[in-house]
Amino acid sequence: MTYMQNRLVQFLVIYLLSMICGMAPIQAQVENNTPIVKIIQPKTSKPLKWNTLIPYSITVNDVEDGNSAYEEITDWEVLLIAKYLKDSSLVKDYLARIKLDLVPLFAMSKSTCLTCHAASSKLIGPSFDLIAKRYRENDRAKTYLTEKIISGGTGIWGEVKMPPNPDLNKAEVALIVDWILKQADNPTPFYVGMEGAIRAQKAQTNSDIGVYVLTAAYKDHGLTSAPKNQKLGLQTITLKIR
Ligand code: HEC
Repeated sequence: MTYMQNRLVQFLVIYLLSMICGMAPIQAQVENNTPIVKIIQPKTSKPLKWNTLIPYSITVNDVEDGNSAYEEITDWEVLLIAKYLKDSSLVKDYLARIKLDLVPLFAMSKSTCLTCHAASSKLIGPSFDLIAKRYRENDRAKTYLTEKIISGGTGIWGEVKMPPNPDLNKAEVALIVDWILKQADNPTPFYVGMEGAIRAQKAQTNSDIGVYVLTAAYKDHGLTSAPKNQKLGLQTITLKIR
């Protein structure tokens, strides 16, 4: 059902109900629905293998924004985080803190940073893990990077220029910078888009086992009347790796 059809049905149901109750039609209080995000691939039934490429695919269905099956969802607004944990007993704690990754990642996807920066490979700009390693020992990194992101610039990583981002507010950028600076020691591998491949890391020792926690997420656009009231839809699956 399209968004408009859905709204029409909602309106008719409320209208009929109010007629039945003998009341004047009441104003419909429409809530923004939470998007339904599903990881279709990989399946949890099969353990992953170290150092392999694992194809993934995600679907998104949101009453207001549309359905990925009909290409109504913008690909780059869907994110996947693939986190390796040494032990499945760590999963619960990790998931309790997943928003610490999702909030800065969605702030970056919204403002196009992720078209130029990836977790650990170079795109137009340097990868976040290299940026974090470069500024690891630098006390002034937070202030410097916040200003640089807002005003843009060139000459540190090469000749390519990063465009300025004057629309971002300092608090939002500070949150992003905090997250980037954490990517040296405890990186969060993330992927943009509904389809792609996850690179499972190499085992450190022959006896290594552990789990991969995959979290697919989509932040909707809210209602036209209340665009700031956004809802986050996510699905998490845990896969063994050996
Ligand atoms: C059009 C591509 C592009 C976009 C969009 C972009 N960047 Fe960059 N970014 C670059 C390039 C190129 C560099 C390297 C600049 C240099 O060498 O000084 C860079 C550098 C950086 C650095 C390191 C700065 C330094 O001086 O070491 C950070 C941090 C960064 N970007 C974060 C972001 C964030 C956050 C956003 C979104 C708000 C963003 N970038 C958007 C291309 C981009």
